[in-house]
Amino acid sequence: MSDPITPLLTPSPISPGPQSLIPDMASWREQWIRALKDPSGFWLEQTQSLLEWSAPPQLGGEGDFWSVVEEPIRWFADGELNVSVNCVDRHLMTRGDQAAIIWEADEPGEGFTWTYRQLHEEVCRAANVLSDLGVSAGDRVIIYMGMVPQAAVAMLACARIGAAHSVVFGGFSAEALRDRVIDCGARVVITQDEGRRGGRPVALKTVVDEALAPAEVEVDKVLVFKRAKAETPWIEGRDVDWATACSAVSAEHTPQSFGAEHPLFILYTSGSTGRPKGLMHTSGGYLTYTTYTHRAVFDLREGDVYGCVADVGWITGHSYIVYGPLSNGTTTVMFESTPLYPDASRYWSLVERHKVNIFYTAPTAIRALAALGDEWVNNHDLSSLRVLGTVGEPINPEAWEWYYHVVGRGKCALVDTWWQTETGGISLSPLAGVTPTQPGAATLPLPGIQPILVNPEGHEIHGAGEGRLCLNMPWPGQARTVWGDHERFVKTYFNDFPGRYFTGDGCRRDVEGHHWITGRVDDVLNVAGHRMGTAEFEAALITDDVVAEAAVVGFPHPVKGQGVCAYLVLAQNESSHGALEESLLKRLQSVVRTRIGVHAKLDRVISIPGLPKTRSGKVMRRILRKVAEGETQALGDVSTLADSAVVEAIIKAATEG
Ligand code: PRX
Repeated sequence: MSDPITPLLTPSPISPGPQSLIPDMASWREQWIRALKDPSGFWLEQTQSLLEWSAPPQLGGEGDFWSVVEEPIRWFADGELNVSVNCVDRHLMTRGDQAAIIWEADEPGEGFTWTYRQLHEEVCRAANVLSDLGVSAGDRVIIYMGMVPQAAVAMLACARIGAAHSVVFGGFSAEALRDRVIDCGARVVITQDEGRRGGRPVALKTVVDEALAPAEVEVDKVLVFKRAKAETPWIEGRDVDWATACSAVSAEHTPQSFGAEHPLFILYTSGSTGRPKGLMHTSGGYLTYTTYTHRAVFDLREGDVYGCVADVGWITGHSYIVYGPLSNGTTTVMFESTPLYPDASRYWSLVERHKVNIFYTAPTAIRALAALGDEWVNNHDLSSLRVLGTVGEPINPEAWEWYYHVVGRGKCALVDTWWQTETGGISLSPLAGVTPTQPGAATLPLPGIQPILVNPEGHEIHGAGEGRLCLNMPWPGQARTVWGDHERFVKTYFNDFPGRYFTGDGCRRDVEGHHWITGRVDDVLNVAGHRMGTAEFEAALITDDVVAEAAVVGFPHPVKGQGVCAYLVLAQNESSHGALEESLLKRLQSVVRTRIGVHAKLDRVISIPGLPKTRSGKVMRRILRKVAEGETQALGDVSTLADSAVVEAIIKAATEG
């Protein structure tokens, strides 16, 4: 990693475009200070120039990180708008025939392109269908789909009629899906017969059927888009065919406006308990923030083709495949496949065929592709590329350099964007064409974001140093609450450091004031850019009778960033410990897959005689983490352990296992 004390700053290889919101570092500084001093004034100005409001707001931000304990923050609360009008209708006059969504289907060549006019018709029809199914403003709708344009249509149709959507990533298991359906009280689920990924079918409708089977799940209607024309069981009266229903309704829909704080969506994410939390985002502030950041960070230009290869099941897909890009009138790509299908050049052939100007992916994919060699990239004409982005996990300098030099050929701006489901949009990032970068640094805050570092006692660290990353002032895109549990929202984010939003991340700041994210400091894992709670794994593992106790920690993994290591105390606690038998290991892999989803995998499982607990019964995860990292000596203070002999046994099991 480059030395944070004397950082080597690389100037941006591109100059900002004519529509740049922040054309140089002096403007960044000026705007950042303005937003700090007068956040309401700053954001009112942005929203009025970026969005179309039916009732423009006079009010800016209300509430702060003290008052959030009592009630959620609000932005533009007296304003009214319709989010889908902003993403679709308002572009019809000027860009009705421009491509809105380019669908890159799993099989290369099988996709299609929709113009803004076509997208408008699809959204209107879907909105009419949802209304006919009884969905109205304030209701919740679960979307469990793959990467098809109909997923974006489903989201926009919900937004159009004021229903909050909750997209559940199509890899989540039936149990995980059921928990989310119940938690948000959805009566309608939108899904597909099957998805397609890497040439293989992805079960979606059958998972929905299983999730909804128990009597306590009160879902009235399941709208099914038949993407694969697969045979699927059909429940008459409940299941509705998307195509038939859409063709039976009008292609016109008159939208209603909703208050800025009207819920737009709920997105479940992992925290430090076994129960995922539904972060609730609202309309006006979220759309302002995603529209602004998408334009400012990527130096968006008229006519750009923008390709973010994330999934709509995660926040990146919400903010930077659907809402930000469409609100900005961009051509956005939806990618159904994997970076390795049919071979390791898939991303680059996509870039070449669609002449992608801005490409946004995760470090895991970059590391996996870099390991396969440069030929896959070099065989393609990537001259359309101008900006490269990464998100989701810290990017190691080697991967950064490869992305910059091999993919970008040293001619593209590279933006390492740090943000979270909770922040709604990019919060720390270089601005393409403007900010000098360093491999691995998320650099500087966007206007409206005030990052501060604190030590574990909550004292602010000034200047260069390392600490816990907090954000000190509200911004429009932030999640307002945890659905149905504001107390949990407050406890999770505002209890540790009162008056500040605690991100859960560690961060180093160098002498230039640039920020380097060091990873999570809580019990959240980031595996291949997927956020999962150690507690979720533990809750899954102990459902198997063979497991008496489980503690899960992350450890460095060369491709996935973090791997998952489970320490288990088995019910039949035998004298030999270490690696598990193959059959038991398989069974436990299947337990986590069933409870969480296909993206949940155990990389290492070690049976141990006992967990390292303090006298008060708390598991000392620090020890488990160090041992998983291969450390056997410098384990730190173990004097508070109830039984320090257990440490020796854990080291032995880990080294032999
Ligand atoms: O640890 C940080 C990491 O991803 C976490 C947020 O995960 P999620 O809510 O799933 O959102 C991911 C997509 C925005 C953060 O707390 N993270 C995200 N971006 C970066 C990052 N870590 C380092 N560098 C980044 N650029």
